[in-house]
Amino acid sequence: MTATATSSAARIEIELGERSYPILIGAGLIDQASTWEGLPRASTALIVTNEVVGPLYAERVKRALQPHYARVLTVVLPDGESHKTWETLNRIFDVLLGEACDRKTVLFALGGGVIGDMTGFAAACYMRGVPFVQVPTTLLSQVDSSVGGKTAVNHPMGKNMIGAFYQPVRVVCDLDTLQTLPARELSAGLAEVIKYGPIHDMAFLDWIEAQLPALMARDVTALSWAVQRSCEIKAEVVGQDERESGLRAILNFGHTFGHAIEAGLGFGVWLHGEAVGCGMLMAARLSQRLGHVDQAFVDRLATLVGRAGLPLVGPALGASSYLEHMRVDKKAQNGDIRFVLIQQPGQAVVQGAPDALVAEVIEQSCRA
Ligand code: NAD
Ligand code: GLY
Repeated sequence: MTATATSSAARIEIELGERSYPILIGAGLIDQASTWEGLPRASTALIVTNEVVGPLYAERVKRALQPHYARVLTVVLPDGESHKTWETLNRIFDVLLGEACDRKTVLFALGGGVIGDMTGFAAACYMRGVPFVQVPTTLLSQVDSSVGGKTAVNHPMGKNMIGAFYQPVRVVCDLDTLQTLPARELSAGLAEVIKYGPIHDMAFLDWIEAQLPALMARDVTALSWAVQRSCEIKAEVVGQDERESGLRAILNFGHTFGHAIEAGLGFGVWLHGEAVGCGMLMAARLSQRLGHVDQAFVDRLATLVGRAGLPLVGPALGASSYLEHMRVDKKAQNGDIRFVLIQQPGQAVVQGAPDALVAEVIEQSCRA
């Protein structure tokens, strides 16, 4: 991973051999011609977006792409996690096939993580693989989901269960798009920013604590560093373990509990970032009960998660429901759940824990 920064833009390289690509981070990138230069040549580009983001940004992206592609098509999908399904994915294939798009066609994912994950999966599958570009427009997708090549749709029995590892050819994080993001979505994104502190970089956690008011006020300088540092950490991890055979699992801190919240409540009731925020607290409590970190660390994390506008108390689904969902987590082995825990502040470890202890932590975390 290498990073360069100027006052207005940063470029981070994800180093994965022939699958390497840059992440561009800056304000106003959509309208800058250089953003779109040097992409794979093709006759057709397909912008995949949704009914919320499309009206805000699709025309501008289309204008920017027109000098490079003879045809720029757009498909507008329904909005939300509940539509991250096989049926919605098929709508992308319907357009690709209906418009006779060839195997050089470049897909552009314009939206948050839901659009990014589905577009990436469509790109991985269509004619056994076409290039795609991530244009993430939520904080969560700029700091996490657009980077690293995890693509998927949900199955009613589990989150992101059907998918592929498939890297984009470029990631374009235009910070200006974050100005139109609803406050609740900004908070959800902050959960994934906070995550990078306990697992890898406590100095970054110090910085987030100090800069939280600026981040919540959408100060572009603060947002720029939050996105850049998050992407640097993610690039470092993904560069070492692209397909999650070990290290990459640390990026799932809070996700094992979080996915159980999302699936247990029904996808879309809690936002992914909200579930991750609350899940991080459950994982931190479990880390404390296993003797890795002290109560002061748990309290510190809870204070920050609360200040970021995220829920602190888990939904009372019952410990058995959580455990049932967590047994189908992708990290589980032979039905044994494995958690990303904090071994010491700034360092994560993946390990199992007795069901009874996990159940106690869940019950404690779901009491108001
Ligand atoms: P999202 O894609 O649903 O976007 C959140 C909401 O904000 C949506 O209503 C969307 O239409 C709207 N929106 C997006 N950009 C906007 C903008 N600029 N202005 C106004 N509204 C805007 O949710 P998300 O939080 O971006 O992503 C969550 C998804 O990402 C989950 O499905 C999760 O599983 C996935 N994810 C994937 C990875 C990965 O590595 N692939 C990592 C983390 C999360
Ligand atoms: N968001 C977790 C990962 O990319 O591995």
